[in-house]
Amino acid sequence: MQTPRTKIADALRLDPPQAGLRVKGWLRTNRVSKQVVFLELNDGSCFANIQAVCGEELANLEEIRHFTTGSAVEIVGELIASPAKGQRVELRATEVKLIGRADPSYPLQKKRASFEYLRSVAHLRVRTNTFGAVFRTRSTLAQAVHRFFQERGFYYVHTPIITAADCEGAGEMFNVTTFDVGAPARGDNGKIDWHQDFFSRPTYLTVSGQLNGETFALGLSDIYTFGPTFRAENSNTPRHVAEFWMIEPEMAWYDLDDDATLAEEFVKHLLRTALSECSEDLAFFNDRIDPGLVARLEHVVNSGFERMRYAEAVERLQASGQSFEFPVFFGANLQAEHERYLTETIVGRPVFVLDYPKEIKAFYMRRNDDGRTVAAMDLLVPKIGELIGGSQREERLDVLEETIKEAGLDAETYSWYLDTRRFGTAPHAGFGLGFERLLMYVTGMENIRDVIPFPRTPRNCDF
Ligand code: 4AD
Ligand code: MG
Repeated sequence: MQTPRTKIADALRLDPPQAGLRVKGWLRTNRVSKQVVFLELNDGSCFANIQAVCGEELANLEEIRHFTTGSAVEIVGELIASPAKGQRVELRATEVKLIGRADPSYPLQKKRASFEYLRSVAHLRVRTNTFGAVFRTRSTLAQAVHRFFQERGFYYVHTPIITAADCEGAGEMFNVTTFDVGAPARGDNGKIDWHQDFFSRPTYLTVSGQLNGETFALGLSDIYTFGPTFRAENSNTPRHVAEFWMIEPEMAWYDLDDDATLAEEFVKHLLRTALSECSEDLAFFNDRIDPGLVARLEHVVNSGFERMRYAEAVERLQASGQSFEFPVFFGANLQAEHERYLTETIVGRPVFVLDYPKEIKAFYMRRNDDGRTVAAMDLLVPKIGELIGGSQREERLDVLEETIKEAGLDAETYSWYLDTRRFGTAPHAGFGLGFERLLMYVTGMENIRDVIPFPRTPRNCDF
């Protein structure tokens, strides 16, 4: 009987000697010298490769010499203490088998390829050091999201992907239809007749699960969502994708301050998890992607986030003497340049900006007593800008009806949402954290396209 496969991560932790170890993976490099061949194998279970030394006792040594980079290979051997520097242990191969040959045109040869190029081979890039590290970290942090909320008694809610409501009221939605787009059903007036479409009304991919999440919070008290969301905004920036994953907790009985406190704990929990559970991958990011990363994350975990009202943020930006491309004034939507200057230069760490003017925020945010601001918060962090957007929600039925009207939204579409304010309304608050933005922050990767497996951006839906 064959010995079972050992994952490389487990093999590298064993104490030598260990005979008859079987590993399987993809060949990273093949170094050929006169009598021996060194194979570096990686199976994705950890950052490190295992080195296998193949000597003349192997009958197929000549074949092994010609193994190409990227090939799938199986190796049986004895794990021994490595006599050379660079690794604690290595495999002295007793049996080496080619499972799947990589054609020499394999695009990931040893030379360092640019991230831009690697995006064009997104189906293969997970086999590189950088992307293996990114996607292991992504998986670990996804679990950490659930752990954080489950430990606090929050329920996980699966909110719908297809919806008729525009949560953010920004009109940046993708249509969902079964119409033949070239010949949709039309009414007598020549206009598209949505009654004949699948849902008998116009429908879209959701931009946020919040409105559905609110209805669950007003019954289960503490809930969260974690799922894909979609934005048809034509933003070609390193921080925007058309499909991204968002985590949206929603809490009954919370006000804006409670909301910010939870958001701060949540971000710190995720950073702490990355530091402790992804230390090997983070060491690589620190070394090769973003020098100082680990020290910066440790500092953030150990310091309080600043809280500043929007009005003060505007004053301090104006007083900074910095010349911005976009003007800063009370009522202006803060641009990425303002957000980054605030968190990086003025504050020097993460900062919550609170109480934005009502004109630049969504209809569901609670109106403050000053008549001109809403109980909104954005969390801004160095290098990224906006990581979180949230608010206390408008729980007063009459005010909410008014803001829906002001936003030019169709009250009928939101009647179920208004019911929550009609039947036992209660103060509540929540926020949304963009999972890819968080991953950029944790890994130091500078382009959001490089922290999501298959990015969707304007004019790009490959793979
Ligand atoms: O600020 P946003 O639009 O807030 C909401 O959607 C609320 N419904 C959240 C809530 O209160 N429950 O988006 C929240 C976060 C942003 O702070 C950002 O991190 C991320 O989602 N985000 C994007 N990430 C990548 N690409 C995009 N196009 C994004 N748009 C927003
Ligand atoms: Mg926002």
